Amino acid sequence: MIKTLNISFSYKEFESVDELNFDERELIFAAREVALHAYAPYSKFRVGAAVRLDSGKIVCGTNVENAAFPSGICAERNAISTLVSNYINDKALAIAIAAITEDGKLTDPVPPCGNCRQVIAEEESRTGNQIKIILSGRNKTQVIDSISCLLPLQFNKKNLEIKHP
Ligand code: THU
Repeated sequence: MIKTLNISFSYKEFESVDELNFDERELIFAAREVALHAYAPYSKFRVGAAVRLDSGKIVCGTNVENAAFPSGICAERNAISTLVSNYINDKALAIAIAAITEDGKLTDPVPPCGNCRQVIAEEESRTGNQIKIILSGRNKTQVIDSISCLLPLQFNKKNLEIKHP
């Protein structure tokens, strides 16, 4: 018997950052600011990610490219690696992502790539806490409640729990 299942999700879209609360705006501005420090000589696409921790701290990361292209890393994974390296007992509540073009203009909202989705999912499962994803763009900001929305049917530590009959 074939079953057809459906997965859908809702997210919020804001026309102006002024519609977001103070903490969210602060996180967006941190992501935009750190994007200016990205090392992206190949793509010229500078991305910044800022993670809000439960303690209130903000941890940032940028994309760091490499002449050997696959050795480069995205902003989101750099921010999360920094968080895990330095604040292992804290937990991420939200991540803001913003990108700027070569001429310094904000792009449309940038959704995290597949690798970064997997890493954000690991962080959610490590702490058991949902991470709000804030995609900040030139004309709009999109807010998604959890990485499960962007990575449904995800592979995570539960799949490694081998159950013996
Ligand atoms: N990039 C990020 O840093 N985050 C994303 O979510 C998408 C892509 C970076 C990787 C590469 O340095 C550049 O953007 C172009 O793909």
